[in-house]
Amino acid sequence: MRKQPIKQLTQAEKRKLIADRLLVAPELSDRQIARMLGVSPTTVGKIRKELTDKTVQIRHVDTQAYDWTKHPYLLAHPEILEGLSERSLRALKAPDVLDLMQQRGSKSPRYCQRLLYQMRKQANKNASAVTEDDIIMFTADIRTGLPQIKDASVDVIFVDPPYDVKSVETLYRHIADVAGRILVEGGSLLVMCGGANLDIAIQELGSDKRLRYNWDIAYVCPRNTPLIHSRKVTTAVKHILWFTKGAYDGNIVYDYIEAPPDPDGSDKTYHHWGQSVAGIKEILRKISKEGDVICDPMCGGGSTVVAALELGGRKIVACDVDADAVKTTLRRVRQLFGYAR
Ligand SMILES: C[S@@+](CC[C@H](N)C(=O)[O-])C[C@H]1O[C@@H](n2cnc3c(N)ncnc32)[C@H](O)[C@@H]1O
Repeated sequence: MRKQPIKQLTQAEKRKLIADRLLVAPELSDRQIARMLGVSPTTVGKIRKELTDKTVQIRHVDTQAYDWTKHPYLLAHPEILEGLSERSLRALKAPDVLDLMQQRGSKSPRYCQRLLYQMRKQANKNASAVTEDDIIMFTADIRTGLPQIKDASVDVIFVDPPYDVKSVETLYRHIADVAGRILVEGGSLLVMCGGANLDIAIQELGSDKRLRYNWDIAYVCPRNTPLIHSRKVTTAVKHILWFTKGAYDGNIVYDYIEAPPDPDGSDKTYHHWGQSVAGIKEILRKISKEGDVICDPMCGGGSTVVAALELGGRKIVACDVDADAVKTTLRRVRQLFGYAR
């Protein structure tokens, strides 16, 4: 980041630089501005007082509002402020920029502001009018049966539960229970699943007699091929187990979906096990239609929620047992679409 060559400036130029920063970000302390510009806090204090005395308009700071100067990322990395230009400082203060910097471990506010702009543009490309009322999110354990969701109120469940054998043995039965109750007649349950415990997964999901097995869709990730030592298999395939409640009468579906490449690992930005939004969008495009209610009861970092919003015209119900994951999803939705605050 470019540092201001403060030592080479005249007194008048220095004063102007300090005054400009004070006008852009009066909520920063004298010490923070001093550190940013490489001058003494006393000098900043003097100029602040002069400006106030001269009644130069220093913008009113609403103390009830969110205080970006106390953002945990900024407190952990005060060096971010050092040598910031006026434009970078404005970017740093912009809504959601510090959150994104924290998520990406970035020290560049302008890069993150640009990225946010691109993300929003991309996200809003196809999103059709969905309002805050069309998104319901809460923290809950699927083993409670999710009484928050009404009977026969959901058209498609897309869920990506943990793949380990213990989770398959203990959670998939609950997924089936919930799906049997909340799906409309003809609705679909799509469960993303690894190959290792597919036999148990199919058995557990089939335990609810309201559901019937429909198909296994191959979700192929050719660039991500972990070796499963215990089975001596290198795998590029995830399975999307497709169960329906009653008879499915939607479109004909091709059972092969290729996950888009993720060269910079951005799928994992919001969750350790984050999936590709574009990939889930492709799945939802095939199996849901406008007006449908989509549910992800183990939403993690919110890829399903974002995919459904980007697709447009779908309502969303999502939850996770992990309150932080729900918060992350809400923050992501707000960053991208401006609602679900
Ligand atoms: C593989 S991750 C989902 C990742 C998500 N698809 C994404 O793209 O970010 C599985 C999620 O299941 C959640 N989970 C695990 N046990 C759960 C339970 N009993 N009830 C609800 N959610 C649970 C975890 O907290 C985790 O967020």
